[in-house]
Amino acid sequence: MIRTVPVGLGDRAYEVLIGPGLIDQAGARIAPFLKRARVAVVADETVAGLHGERLRAALAASGVEARFVVVPPGEGSKSFEGLADLSDRLLALELDRGDLVVAFGGGVVGDLTGFAAAVYKRGIDFVQIPTTLLAQVDSSVGGKTAIDTPRGKNLIGAFHQPRLVLADLDVLDSLPDREMRCGYAEVIKYGLLGDFAFFEWLEANGPAVLAREPGPLSHAVARSVEMKAEIVAEDEREAGRRALLNLGHTFGHALEAEMGFGDGLLHGEAVGLGMAMAFRFSARQAICPGQDAERAERAIAAAGLPVRMSQARTAPFAAGVLIGHMIQDKKAEDGRITLILARSLGQAFVAKTVDTAPLRDFLIEEGALP
Ligand code: GLY
Repeated sequence: MIRTVPVGLGDRAYEVLIGPGLIDQAGARIAPFLKRARVAVVADETVAGLHGERLRAALAASGVEARFVVVPPGEGSKSFEGLADLSDRLLALELDRGDLVVAFGGGVVGDLTGFAAAVYKRGIDFVQIPTTLLAQVDSSVGGKTAIDTPRGKNLIGAFHQPRLVLADLDVLDSLPDREMRCGYAEVIKYGLLGDFAFFEWLEANGPAVLAREPGPLSHAVARSVEMKAEIVAEDEREAGRRALLNLGHTFGHALEAEMGFGDGLLHGEAVGLGMAMAFRFSARQAICPGQDAERAERAIAAAGLPVRMSQARTAPFAAGVLIGHMIQDKKAEDGRITLILARSLGQAFVAKTVDTAPLRDFLIEEGALP
């Protein structure tokens, strides 16, 4: 069954389609958006190797020629060099403003391709075909595109909404379990930030989602995308409520930065750990019942995600260094830290100007060095 979630953004509205077999329908689904029968498809070597021919055949079946642009796998492609290389290769294909680019991959390819599409000849259309759970439930929806710089992740970017998102659940069969758990961190995020009933459903059905059972997986992706679509439609540019989608991300980013953004702590793992910390910090501040923080932690840990800093690295982090990273966060204003905290399970809120003193005490309690 294909589920359709609309993203209501006026003249930039689009649909997210979720279900099995969507890559095989890509030609028929994308053709209505084309002015001429060709597209550029950006993919990394891994995704091109695993699924490239399937997509090429599906486009060809609708008479659409696919010109593949294959980029190296990994975060390194989300750089000024990666953008220059991709832009040059799109120019070499002589794409014009009426053409369309397909971002076929995980978050890195989606963010890089989306940003290239935003600036290519001042903007061309693009379609997202996300191939990781994390990209399907989060990064492919909502139009955030960006590259990294040596000063931090996602610091240079643009809001550029896709014309269509095709989330084919079949591709998750070849996703490594660790990547599946990373995507699941973002799924559980939606329950924790705004839907207690979904959180309870995940407590019962999380193992089935992680095992890729079709029914539970489809529901988990669709409910996540529905919540994201609703929040994005209300606050596209993150003037308010969209910041809730960063639950666990400020703690998580600080830890990722200290770990060097490598394989030691993947983004989804950092988000899982960061959400557990955000709930414990909320409980410590007497904003949230302690039992809710414990229950959030149990649900995150049950998915095999880290919930304590000692699970991310055996050597302790330094509290001051972590706080330094948090002050660099895009949400921080005038040197004051913004955190997403929770009043209860399913009730997150944006806490602006969090004092660093209780945050420092909390991080030390959590095992950081003073
Ligand atoms: N990933 C957070 C957002 O799209 O706002």
